[in-house]
Amino acid sequence: MLIRKSTKNDAAGMIEVEHLVWTPGTTPGDTHYATESEYLLRNPPESKVVAEIDGKIAGILGFHSPIPLKSNEHVWMLDIAVHPDFQRHGVGSALMQELYRIAKAENKKKNILTCAIDKRKSNSIL
Ligand SMILES: CC(C)(COP(=O)(O)OP(=O)(O)OC[C@H]1O[C@@H](n2cnc3c(N)ncnc32)[C@H](O)[C@@H]1OP(=O)(O)O)[C@@H](O)C(=O)NCCC(=O)NCCS
Repeated sequence: MLIRKSTKNDAAGMIEVEHLVWTPGTTPGDTHYATESEYLLRNPPESKVVAEIDGKIAGILGFHSPIPLKSNEHVWMLDIAVHPDFQRHGVGSALMQELYRIAKAENKKKNILTCAIDKRKSNSIL
């Protein structure tokens, strides 16, 4: 597994992961990208971290400041999505390890992740 910053060439694979993972069941917002250009406009190269397995995008990690205030400079809001074919194989953990590494280097002390919880599956994350 290769953990690295996203590039322009990853757009198609990243769109595939986002469309498979972010559905009305997992997020309140509508996640749809009509073209790679639209995706790259909203997610420029190097703005996210990806996990690559055998040349395929297996997972995506995003992080950004939730509020552009000096008092919130130490905070990041996270989004993490793993391709259903690769879930439960340690991809999410590997992306989070990289997040901890970058957050420490950039002095981000608080990382916020919002999750949808499925109470029918013993509080499993959707
Ligand atoms: C949640 C998600 C990122 C986990 O990624 P993953 O690659 O499957 O996770 P890993 O294989 O690294 O597992 C890491 C740990 O999380 C647990 N876990 C994985 N998926 C889980 C789920 N759906 N619910 C509860 N726990 C889960 C694993 O059991 C493991 O725990 P352990 O180390 O104690 O065994 C992935 O299932 C996903 O993309 N879900 C949909 C999107 C989402 O909900 N993102 C989070 C909100 S932004």
